[in-house]
Amino acid sequence: MPTEILKAERLSKFFYEPGKFQVLHDVSLSVTKGEFLAIMGKSGCGKSTLLYLLSTLDTDYEGDLFIMGKKISGMEEDNLAKFRNENIGFVFQFHYLLPEFSARENVMLPALKLARWDKKTIEKRLWNASDRWEWRNSPQNHPENSQVASSNASLSRGR
Ligand SMILES: Nc1ncnc2c1ncn2[C@@H]1O[C@H](COP(=O)(O)OP(=O)(O)OP(=O)(O)O)[C@@H](O)[C@H]1O
Ligand SMILES: [Mg+2]
Repeated sequence: MPTEILKAERLSKFFYEPGKFQVLHDVSLSVTKGEFLAIMGKSGCGKSTLLYLLSTLDTDYEGDLFIMGKKISGMEEDNLAKFRNENIGFVFQFHYLLPEFSARENVMLPALKLARWDKKTIEKRLWNASDRWEWRNSPQNHPENSQVASSNASLSRGR
């Protein structure tokens, strides 16, 4: 039986500025391991809003969210931050890389912070994962930035 990695139950989201406005109405969905999913809809229908909820970045909503069987709704912010680092890889439209660190350091930062492996092991994982593209010194204005961000998203989690 496929493993359910994400379950949303009746998610509703309201914005209050400039007036009360309900963007998401009782959205329920389930995603199984290995499933590749795209969310489609016209501009302004609430795709980004939903993704912020599903990615645990926005905690101000009604309904319940479960990731790998764990109830995410109502979790303390510190535990949530740890859970995110351990389990969720983000690839944003804009890469949000830190210009004061090298591309390599940007990829390694979340894994170092997680401290599941020592630095040598993290470097080795990075080396194994990155043989198809070249590292540069700084991540600013690179065509490879999305690859840096993707590596960042996948290095720590190993799934
Ligand atoms: N912080 C906010 N405060 C008030 N209204 C907001 C806020 N963020 C988004 N909205 C409104 O919520 C609705 C959904 O926005 P959202 O950005 O989720 O749409 P989208 O489907 O991602 O659109 P696009 O395809 O243009 O990216 C829109 O009407 C938007 O104006
Ligand atoms: Mg959007």
